[in-house]
Amino acid sequence: MHSAPRSTLPTLAAVLGLVFACTLAAPLPAAADTDIPTKFSNRGSVGNTRHNLSQRQVSGGGPTGQTMDSYRNDYEEVCVYCHTPHGANRSVAAPLWNRTMKVNTYQTYDLLGSASITQPVTPPGINSLTCLSCHDGTTAVDSIINMPGSGRYNPAQETVENTAFLNAEWDNRRGPDATAHMTLTATGCLACHASGAGPLGANATDFTAFAIGTDLRNDHPVGIRFPAAAGVGTDFKDPPRKEARLAYFDTNGNGRADAGEVRLYNTGEGYEVECASCHDPHGVPSAGPGSVFNPTFLRVSNAGSGVCLSCHTK
Ligand code: HEC
Ligand code: HEC
Ligand code: HEC
Ligand code: HEC
Ligand code: HEC
Repeated sequence: MHSAPRSTLPTLAAVLGLVFACTLAAPLPAAADTDIPTKFSNRGSVGNTRHNLSQRQVSGGGPTGQTMDSYRNDYEEVCVYCHTPHGANRSVAAPLWNRTMKVNTYQTYDLLGSASITQPVTPPGINSLTCLSCHDGTTAVDSIINMPGSGRYNPAQETVENTAFLNAEWDNRRGPDATAHMTLTATGCLACHASGAGPLGANATDFTAFAIGTDLRNDHPVGIRFPAAAGVGTDFKDPPRKEARLAYFDTNGNGRADAGEVRLYNTGEGYEVECASCHDPHGVPSAGPGSVFNPTFLRVSNAGSGVCLSCHTK
């Protein structure tokens, strides 16, 4: 449901620069025009999903991360690209957040001017900004504050991406050191992960649809307030549980906001739809513990438009 902005096409010079850098770095497999099924098992743990940026699957198989070693630090741990037990980001109210959070301006859905939008829209809240810290393409996927091991901590990284810190403090032990710290953009990871060969021609899965950018006009609105008057007779279902900061569709009735339940976040502006309303970045089993995760990190299966019908009465 998201499509990539066209404005992020690389300049010819940038592409040629990358091709040149890459030729020097390592020989790559021949270009192919096919999309490659994921090598992750997508079950059991976030470590077995595409959110494992170290790239080694927690259990068995998985892609070999060496291909990426020149382009991101391999911290050899799964959680650390997003969380840290100590030295977390104090500038944002996200769980033990380890990522650099730049202050960006987003083009929100309401700017499209659709006549049917009735609810107030505010800039994306923190439960979207966490995702956007990688998916908007402005911050390197490995730009973190506190690296594994002691002493590799730089509080200035909370809001500023410091390439010197990322280079100096980390050596990839399982392959070459990173010479670039790539973002999810056409000149970054998509230089290989594009349709067809891609400028870097590496026979890699097409990630174009996942590079959301800062233009959110073509995405389901986030930072949009859920109607207070929802329920029977309206276009919206009323979430049965409403806590101070979270409202959720408690489908199993256990009084807890489970990973597999669509939710709304209240960060001071009322209950709002954010990226994490529909997605859980750790993966949610589709049919009980151990089963394969719902596709695309969705909280509920979207078969039969299940995600949409959690909120919308249509
Ligand atoms: C790609 C980024 C990413 C990775 C990797 C990741 N998380 Fe998270 N995690 C998040 C985000 C984003 C949230 C906040 C979700 C929200 O807004 O509700 C979160 C929330 C949490 C929470 C609190 C809320 C909840 O969902 O339970 C815990 C606990 C947690 N993560 C643990 C972990 C552990 C342990 C690992 C590694 C095994 C891990 N995470 C890996 C992104 C990540
Ligand atoms: C640390 C960086 C990072 C963070 C934070 C992050 N992602 Fe991702 N995400 C990636 C990468 C890298 C991929 C794989 C390549 C791609 O899709 O561009 C990915 C893939 C995905 C996919 C496609 C999965 C598939 O199997 O096809 C979805 C959906 C997604 N992310 C949603 C989210 C959401 C929602 C959040 C926040 C709750 C989030 N991501 C946070 C880096 C991140
Ligand atoms: C030099 C080319 C190249 C670059 C640059 C590159 N990758 Fe890859 N990547 C590959 C190849 C080749 C594979 C293995 C084939 C495949 O699964 O697409 C791969 C696999 C992956 C996978 C696993 C796909 C799956 O589901 O099995 C993820 C996730 C990924 N890369 C993320 C990234 C991220 C994030 C970046 C940017 C920091 C990046 N890659 C940059 C070439 C590249
Ligand atoms: C209202 C629910 C909802 C919200 C909010 C939402 N998504 Fe999604 N997202 C979905 C659904 C449903 C899919 C699966 C679409 C499909 O399978 O074609 C999806 C797919 C994706 C994908 C995979 C690419 C694609 O187009 O299939 C990414 C990446 C992603 N979402 C990231 C995000 C991020 C980042 C945010 C916040 C800016 C976000 N999503 C907000 C429902 C949502
Ligand atoms: C977490 C709750 C939630 C989920 C899940 C959800 N939506 Fe929405 N959606 C909203 C809210 C709130 C609005 C804003 C309504 C308004 O302004 O009147 C909205 C608006 C819309 C609009 C109207 C846009 C416009 O310009 O008027 C469409 C179309 C839409 N959603 C489609 C979907 C689809 C398709 C899905 C499933 C992929 C989905 N929604 C999932 C809450 C949700």
